[in-house]
Amino acid sequence: MSEDAIPLAGVIGHPIAHSRSPALHGHWLRRYGIDGHYIPMDVNREHLETVLQTLPKMGFVGVNVTIPHKERALALADVVTDRAALIGASNTLIFRKDGKLLADNTDGYGFIENLKQGAPNWRGPDGPAIVLGAGGASRAVLSALIEAGVPEIFLANRTKARAEALKDEFGAKVKVIDWVQVSNVLPDAALLANTTSLGMTGAAEMRLPLDNLTSKTVVTDIVYTPLRTPLLDAAEMAGCTTVDGLGMLLHQAAPGFERWFGQRPDVDDALRAAVLAA
Ligand code: ATR
Repeated sequence: MSEDAIPLAGVIGHPIAHSRSPALHGHWLRRYGIDGHYIPMDVNREHLETVLQTLPKMGFVGVNVTIPHKERALALADVVTDRAALIGASNTLIFRKDGKLLADNTDGYGFIENLKQGAPNWRGPDGPAIVLGAGGASRAVLSALIEAGVPEIFLANRTKARAEALKDEFGAKVKVIDWVQVSNVLPDAALLANTTSLGMTGAAEMRLPLDNLTSKTVVTDIVYTPLRTPLLDAAEMAGCTTVDGLGMLLHQAAPGFERWFGQRPDVDDALRAAVLAA
């Protein structure tokens, strides 16, 4: 690609029609007057490798990767950042000028930046965190919380074996508890984070006894459809600072945008409104 070519980026997934990333990056491109494009691409599993080899030749500088390609994208990369290796998946790929494919993961970063913006008084070392869920999103959240200095993480998941596997990987700070034990550790928790799909529109309801929740616990949900989940509503009733999940999506996009288009973008109310309207 020549130096003055218009930079192209995009998002690869299957399906992709409901991705909010094009609206998000499109907003930033317009806002900063950048001559570039961000394109959604529906790519199935068997075509992923070929597509990733072809895009740089077409002028693409990188892509976001979403379900179901995040793990495979990591495996196809030539260079992997530490945080992507720790999470075991990539959501941000950079087509380097030397021809190498660099895989990063900004999900954990997005989670923490969202917390910093929505609960500015929260600090990692403040106290234990409770994490609900042991899927892909949980991996990103656990790695980010450990990096933020959280002293102890109570991990609860419907399928306990998945939580035990994450504990083995992430170390002694992670303590696996049963779902019903969450209420015992709630009084001391500085943070409660839902990484499951419970509470999402169309998904099952979250059944978690929250009687022991006090206003000193910050509560966050990675679900953002609806924006105010039943968990966040209950936490607000208990006087907690609550942080919705949309901000994680917005913040995880920022490092890729900066890398591809050369502008550090703001995550602000105008961006939220643009993404919600999409
Ligand atoms: P993601 O990558 O979004 O984390 P995932 O890997 O499918 O997606 O993980 C979904 C998480 O939501 C898991 O923790 C899952 O619990 P299990 O490991 O027991 O499957 C949790 N989850 C989904 N539906 C659930 C339900 N009805 N009740 C309890 N937990 C549920």
